[in-house]
Amino acid sequence: MTDRLAGKVAIVTGAGSNIGRGVALRFAAEGARVAVADIARESGEETAALIAAAGGQAHAYALDVSDEAAVLETIGDVAARWGGLHILHNNAVYRTFAAPGAHPLLDFDAGNWRREFDVNVLGAAFGCKHAIPHIVKAGGGAILNSSSVNGLVGDLHRPQYGMCKAAINNLTMTVAALHGRQGIRCNAIAPGNIPRGGIDAHPWAKLDSPYAVADRHQIAPRRGVPEDIAALALFLASTRAASSPAASSPATAG
Ligand SMILES: NC(=O)c1ccc[n+]([C@@H]2O[C@H](COP(=O)([O-])OP(=O)(O)OC[C@H]3O[C@@H](n4cnc5c(N)ncnc54)[C@H](O)[C@@H]3O)[C@@H](O)[C@H]2O)c1
Repeated sequence: MTDRLAGKVAIVTGAGSNIGRGVALRFAAEGARVAVADIARESGEETAALIAAAGGQAHAYALDVSDEAAVLETIGDVAARWGGLHILHNNAVYRTFAAPGAHPLLDFDAGNWRREFDVNVLGAAFGCKHAIPHIVKAGGGAILNSSSVNGLVGDLHRPQYGMCKAAINNLTMTVAALHGRQGIRCNAIAPGNIPRGGIDAHPWAKLDSPYAVADRHQIAPRRGVPEDIAALALFLASTRAASSPAASSPATAG
């Protein structure tokens, strides 16, 4: 490990599990102080404890990213606790699945879809809205958004998920366009399959495990792991990914 994020303060949402946990651990291992934000309090605390056990600095926040007042309060608390904010990774996700035999579009449940949009799209937008002033104040930094390959094509199984991720892609470009000149680099990461615990419990997984399907079609010799995404997130969060003097200002060097 290096210290590519030494002196930086980062928030990772959905950091109690899988990709978010991998990113939080890597950011901390690279010297960042990491706010582990997750709606599942115990999972977030577990990630923070793993970071502390590895010698890093973290604080767990129980946060529902769809609650704007809570997002505002959490971001303000992080900035006050550690004297600023440089990195935000909007990674939390809420997923719903059509019941076996139900048509993913024609039978969709509006309540489920609204909750997905609230968490997956508005949650990321709230994060950007309230983190950007802090990141600008700190002299610049990075925002990462967890997208998905499902946001680049029509999603046959979970149209609402693909729609959310397409919105995330557009949000990412919008933030980059509106705030790039203020030293904010905004990028989306669009993983393929990164297996996580519990997926096989979903009803449709019993029909044909999504990982079995992916294994049949993927070109890579192995499945992806959270550390793969964490390595990319680290690159994008550090100024190695910067291309302009503003983004490489001393305040964001790393
Ligand atoms: N795992 C994959 O194969 C894969 C593929 C492509 C994209 N992604 C994206 O990467 C990100 C992480 O995926 P993952 O598989 O690690 O997810 P995960 O399901 O393992 O973890 C998601 C985390 O978000 C938290 N969360 C849920 N609702 C929340 C809310 N309202 N506020 C705050 N936290 C909330 C959960 O408690 C959980 O800890 C997601 O944005 C996902 O869409 C994942």
